Amino acid sequence: MIEIKNLKKSYLVNGKNSEALKGINLKIEKGQVFGIIGKSGAGKSTLLRCLNLLEIPDEGQIIVEGEDITKFNKRELREYRKNVSMIFQHFNLLSNSNVYKNVAFPLEIAGYKREYIDKRVKELLEIVGLEDKEREYPSNLSGGQKQRVAIARALANNPKILLCDEATSALDPLTTKQILDLLLHLNNKFGLTIVLITHEMDVVERICSHVAVMENGLIVEVGKKDEVFNSPKSKTLKQFLRSQNEGVIYLDLKEKAM
Ligand SMILES: Nc1ncnc2c1ncn2[C@@H]1O[C@H](COP(=O)(O)OP(=O)(O)OP(=O)(O)O)[C@@H](O)[C@H]1O
Ligand SMILES: [Mg+2]
Repeated sequence: MIEIKNLKKSYLVNGKNSEALKGINLKIEKGQVFGIIGKSGAGKSTLLRCLNLLEIPDEGQIIVEGEDITKFNKRELREYRKNVSMIFQHFNLLSNSNVYKNVAFPLEIAGYKREYIDKRVKELLEIVGLEDKEREYPSNLSGGQKQRVAIARALANNPKILLCDEATSALDPLTTKQILDLLLHLNNKFGLTIVLITHEMDVVERICSHVAVMENGLIVEVGKKDEVFNSPKSKTLKQFLRSQNEGVIYLDLKEKAM
């Protein structure tokens, strides 16, 4: 469904060209929960932002359902963007608007009538379990509740693809689990394709069907999560798995000490 071919992106930093993506090739099928992991600076966010053309690649193709989105004109891009939503680590809610207004916002931009917006906002708040928070302002919500509002807003226009940039990194483990369960539910119920970038191995472990590992602007391994995790090849993945195991050993020790 999404095919990325030889994608390159550089930034000009202090007059010098710095390559953030050095030729990415990747296929993401419809309905997958696709995790992208890698250390800080590996190029994960840049890659994700290329998928909705928030970042314009220098070279390469991004073919979504047969069409190269890098060739889209403004009108085509506007249409395409309705199918792709994004959620972020720090939620990016409108702080001066209540929950209802935040969720209604993309529907208002899309020009829907008041009655439809009203019905749809209620439906979306029910999906994310926030029916009783319509009139609250973001500052009165917990992190998990804020991310639920962001998810409701992201779903407003019935997207086919949800991009998640460290969407659970600011949340505690229990809230993270609840948000991941919600994402998995959306994937199952609506066939939503989810592309998720994270530092957290537990997140990948919990919901991803497939995973790609990035190092220095390149994909260094990719495949089904279980297969990739069972025989890690890259330095990054070996290190990530080791630190995850050390965490488990630490917990074991702690339990024994108690
Ligand atoms: N707007 C920008 N201008 C200049 N350089 C940038 C810009 N955005 C990213 N970069 C550089 O591109 C590289 C990749 O950055 P990116 O944000 O994609 O990494 P990341 O894997 O998402 O890292 P993190 O895990 O810290 O979020 C980094 O070297 C970064 O400094
Ligand atoms: Mg990032």
